Amino acid sequence: MEYKKVLLNEDEMPCQWYNILADIKMNPPLGPDGNPIKPEQLAPVFPMNLIEQEVSSERWITIPEEVLGVLKIWRPSPLVRAFSLEKALGTPAKIYYKNESVSPPGSHKPNTAVPQAYYNKEFGIKKITTETGAGQWGSALSFACSQFGIECKIFMVRISFDQKPYRKLMMSAWGGNCVASPSTETKAGRDALERDPNTPGSLGIAISEAVEAAVSDTTGQTRYSLGSVLNHVMLHQTIIGLEAKKQFDKIGVYPDIVIGCAGGGSNFAGLAFPFVSDKINGKNIEIYPVEPQACPTLTKAPFVYDHGDTAGYTPLLPMHSLGHSFVPPPFHAGGLRYHGMAPTVSQLVSEGLITAKAVTQLDAYKAGILFSSTEGIIPAPETCHAIATVIDEANKAKEEGKEKVIVFNFSGHGLLDLSAYDKYFSGQLQNFSLSDEELLICQKAFEKFPKPSIVKSR
Ligand SMILES: Cc1ncc(COP(=O)(O)O)c(C=O)c1O
Repeated sequence: MEYKKVLLNEDEMPCQWYNILADIKMNPPLGPDGNPIKPEQLAPVFPMNLIEQEVSSERWITIPEEVLGVLKIWRPSPLVRAFSLEKALGTPAKIYYKNESVSPPGSHKPNTAVPQAYYNKEFGIKKITTETGAGQWGSALSFACSQFGIECKIFMVRISFDQKPYRKLMMSAWGGNCVASPSTETKAGRDALERDPNTPGSLGIAISEAVEAAVSDTTGQTRYSLGSVLNHVMLHQTIIGLEAKKQFDKIGVYPDIVIGCAGGGSNFAGLAFPFVSDKINGKNIEIYPVEPQACPTLTKAPFVYDHGDTAGYTPLLPMHSLGHSFVPPPFHAGGLRYHGMAPTVSQLVSEGLITAKAVTQLDAYKAGILFSSTEGIIPAPETCHAIATVIDEANKAKEEGKEKVIVFNFSGHGLLDLSAYDKYFSGQLQNFSLSDEELLICQKAFEKFPKPSIVKSR
């Protein structure tokens, strides 16, 4: 019998995270003086225990019992075979997805929110500030902070704040305090509003606001938390891929293709990095991060040093970047509207270990609708991007008559994204494309910064 779901028992949950920094070489982040940043320079922003994780090159890092205890509210997550989607496509490919939408906030985000809240609490921090795009991260961190009794303040990108009122209410239910960004509460927000009072906002601006709000608390009891991009976030998310590998082992299957949508890179990395490790050790496997064509960080932007935020508060990170002042067009996948990309994911693209793909907004929604009508779960707009690529690959397998095994990360459900689906159904959504001239103008933002060197891990 072929099972619909492959499940793990709680005692089969991975008890260590996989750290890809043990297996690849990276350019260091740079401080304002252009020199590699020292861990203590990050101390006003993050607690030291998380900074230690950020710079660690230990291959395996133990997951604290208290963290596992909270993750068990919804983990291990199921690995599901998409039989009905396969049938609708008439493909010989076997399609599996790791269902991360089963968490309380509805996405993969609490996999890192929970350990981040835990390590802040351990370090004596009373309040955490953050930004949120789609609202998934803000709700995940509010949930995690409520589990550990910490205050949570969220700067939510204006366009999502207006499009997604129910996300704000979720944050409130978990005790989070959410304001629209740009706000008048910070200098970075006030500056952005002065530049453009009608700005839809961006993750870059919201990050600047949240960092400023943390470092300007003179009591020293507030820190900032980032929901993607950084090494420790990718680390925490690897529980997804580690579980998936155990689940595939149970049924004697190994994937040919691994796919995840990529905004800052964390859900993609979470599923993919344990498989990248196999690829480094000789496995033949294709690994695709998928981004929107309207924010083509990996497919069109160069690998450079750039700030992670708009105001330039963060260190210079070695990453693919559209320029830190880039404000993406207002497409409806808030979590993919980011100018940069995780340095680890960027490094893997530059080494050719993974290959980036881009899809249009309309193709993404079309794929999401096919998934909803076959597999039954309505995907988040971000997740739809991964599904569009899964469908392309399944159709390719059909043309080639190959029984490929495809796995993707079902990063979140779209039950609070129905206003975007409404716009799609009524024909109000359009594709956005950026001209080469527009891309070049945005890239002036990092023109004067040092250039990362080409480092090869193998
Ligand atoms: C459901 C969902 N998927 C994907 C993403 C993209 O983020 P990342 O690339 O860090 O996984 C987000 C971000 O908010 C999200 O909410």
